Amino acid sequence: MKFTNKTAVITGAGSGIGRAIALRFAHEGARVVIAELDEAKGTEIARLIQTQGGEAMAVTTDVSNAASVAQLFQTVDANGWGIDILVNNAGQGGTLTPLHQLTDEAWQAMLATHLNGTFYCSREAINRMIPNKSGAIINIASVAGLAGMPMGTSYSAAKAGIIGFTKAAGKEVARFGIRVNAIAPGWVETPILDHLPDKLRDAMNTTVPLGRIGQPEEIAALAVFLASEESSYVIGQVISPNGGGYA
Ligand SMILES: NC(=O)c1ccc[n+]([C@@H]2O[C@H](COP(=O)([O-])OP(=O)(O)OC[C@H]3O[C@@H](n4cnc5c(N)ncnc54)[C@H](O)[C@@H]3O)[C@@H](O)[C@H]2O)c1
Repeated sequence: MKFTNKTAVITGAGSGIGRAIALRFAHEGARVVIAELDEAKGTEIARLIQTQGGEAMAVTTDVSNAASVAQLFQTVDANGWGIDILVNNAGQGGTLTPLHQLTDEAWQAMLATHLNGTFYCSREAINRMIPNKSGAIINIASVAGLAGMPMGTSYSAAKAGIIGFTKAAGKEVARFGIRVNAIAPGWVETPILDHLPDKLRDAMNTTVPLGRIGQPEEIAALAVFLASEESSYVIGQVISPNGGGYA
């Protein structure tokens, strides 16, 4: 087991990619903190890990709110678990909207969850990782942040911001033994795609060179690598599992 005696905080772990990462990390021996906005979903996944013999706790968290994130990390401190791994995964898809019709509220909400959330959680985690001279942070970006997604400008901008953040933070905190990297998935079968038009969903399988959409477990496998010592010399990188859809 790769993560025995390690604690991983995973945001948005009540669903999709975060859920798969939480289950896989628990399987690798990690104590898992489910930092999820949806209390019912967070509790459900924490219980599932516990019934499988793992250690997990759910902390209802809104990553877009600095006070809520501070409360999350205080809860982890109080539990005495410490923190070794942070996965900034929480996200929202939003609806496809032409840029010229995008409201201030929709724009700000998108950046608040993805970009502010990644900053707030990383700040708290790094403060705790520095004294340990060790830690791994994985930010979930997207191909949208690399290639740009028409009608998804706020999402693309937020994800591109996360990529810039990853590169800067990776260089900055490497001297403390903390490694910051990003995963930029292509299309992955999760509820975040539910709001997309059927036409686009059908096209996903045919336009990806591998001939299919990705599965959350395929992203979790990469997260295991980036959180483990197997990637001890990997810093500030953006790795994109996308079935060949973007290279
Ligand atoms: N599914 C894809 O095709 C795809 C592709 C590239 C990147 N991503 C990214 O992967 C990440 C996970 O998405 P997913 O596909 O698993 O979607 P999902 O909707 O299945 O899961 C997202 C989770 O984040 C939680 N969440 C939303 N806002 C939150 C907040 N403010 N605080 C805490 N939790 C919050 C939701 O409740 C949900 O459980 C997101 O960052 C998303 O942008 C997804």
